[in-house]
Amino acid sequence: MPRPVLEVEDLAKHFDIHHLEQRVFAFEGVSFRLCPGQFLLVRGRNGAGKSTLLRTLYRTYVPKGGRIWFEAAEGRIDLARAADVDVAALRQRDIGFVTQFLVARPRVAADEIVAEALRRAGWARAEALDEAHRRLDEFGVKRELWRAYPSTFSGGEQQKVNLARALVLPQRLLLLDEPTASLDAGARHALIRRLGALKAEGVAMIGVFHHPEDVAELIDTELTLAS
Ligand SMILES: Nc1ncnc2c1ncn2[C@@H]1O[C@H](COP(=O)(O)OP(=O)(O)OP(=O)(O)O)[C@@H](O)[C@H]1O
Ligand SMILES: [Mg+2]
Repeated sequence: MPRPVLEVEDLAKHFDIHHLEQRVFAFEGVSFRLCPGQFLLVRGRNGAGKSTLLRTLYRTYVPKGGRIWFEAAEGRIDLARAADVDVAALRQRDIGFVTQFLVARPRVAADEIVAEALRRAGWARAEALDEAHRRLDEFGVKRELWRAYPSTFSGGEQQKVNLARALVLPQRLLLLDEPTASLDAGARHALIRRLGALKAEGVAMIGVFHHPEDVAELIDTELTLAS
């Protein structure tokens, strides 16, 4: 059995809405472990806390209790308590997060957005752009859009750029929050093929999918959040 890439112990999160003096429950008592190449499907009704769990693992939110042991290249680190600067470094290379939305930046071309992670990893510009074009092509982004700015793209086209960017390099842990929401069938199949390839390379994944049957072949374990 390989060492787990993630060990979550008794994780809890709620939101205090101060002006209402109210507390909104998200989840508590969440524990699981995930090994390299394993895929965990997170289930639960609307509002059950699925997105909040992914955001807590990504440390967008600080949990109210519990531990998030992550096996980083430099050793084990508890993401529940890690310093922001360490979390930022892990997000550059080790932990990826894909949502339904591309955060398009003005005047950055689609292929440059995808090539950026490769450039950071030391790839030369020409090779990085070639690889970016392969990924954009794989997800079905039309060739004439590769050098264009995604701010004017359709929702589905933006999502394809978003996926090409997020999945261009294998990371240790990939968090997926309903990434298929605005995709056509061709792009959905491309996504599942790409996730399968990354899984085979040892990427651990945690995903929320509106139609989990789309990813049935990838799923190893499931976690259901009660609302
Ligand atoms: N930033 C926030 N501030 C206050 N409450 C929040 C915040 N984010 C989420 N919540 C609340 O936490 C609960 C869980 O929300 P979350 O978005 O995690 O649900 P979900 O399972 O992803 O639902 P869906 O299937 O609709 O995407 C909800 O009741 C929501 O209103
Ligand atoms: Mg959600």
